[in-house]
Amino acid sequence: MKHIISPSILAADFANLGAEIEKINNSQADWIHLDIMDGVFVPNISFGFPVIKYVKKHARKILDAHLMIVNPDNYIERFGEAGTEYLTVHYEACTHLHRTLQKIRSCGMKAGVAINPHTPVNLLSEIISETDLILIMSVNPGFSGQKFISNTYSKVAQTKELLQQKNANAIIQVDGGIDLNNAAKLYEAGANALVVGNTVFMSNDPIDTIYQLKCQ
Ligand code: DX5
Ligand code: ZN
Repeated sequence: MKHIISPSILAADFANLGAEIEKINNSQADWIHLDIMDGVFVPNISFGFPVIKYVKKHARKILDAHLMIVNPDNYIERFGEAGTEYLTVHYEACTHLHRTLQKIRSCGMKAGVAINPHTPVNLLSEIISETDLILIMSVNPGFSGQKFISNTYSKVAQTKELLQQKNANAIIQVDGGIDLNNAAKLYEAGANALVVGNTVFMSNDPIDTIYQLKCQ
């Protein structure tokens, strides 16, 4: 599987969002990552549907939404209507995860499950065959620009093993603190998709940084 790069616009300049999205459009990024935070599941509030509507209008990339919210089921249909292709919910936020994933798929989207740094990979064993994407958080969710947590490498390798055991083939995505120093090692461990915020948007040349992240 080729490497998928998903720049997170959480780190973008929101006063110039059109120009920021145009940079991503002109790059080799595959997706655009939307970090949705409710101030309850995580100690931060980000943005919602009014922003997503305009991102969708300008983006020529697949939209990959990461819901860091409680009760995600209440918003699944609206994300489908907003044109999101991948919708990822947190394992820790879902009481009936199997039902939530089915609802995402029934709304025409690919279904992802994210796990926090403290959540063991083996908790995914009964659900991994029902997912299109597993998101391994490499920071505690809530903010861009945090330090990468290094036990992520082994969690990525465990996820790859679990997928093989179950004969499943979800995308393995990693999110948080990713830069040009850890990307290659994450690919080696088995990651297929990297979410990158600060490293892209704080770069002097985001298009080249995306190219370098993708082609490691
Ligand atoms: C963290 C978010 C990440 C974050 C990535 O809660 O899920 O997507 O914005 O940003 P960086 O790459 O700066 O850690
Ligand atoms: Zn994210």
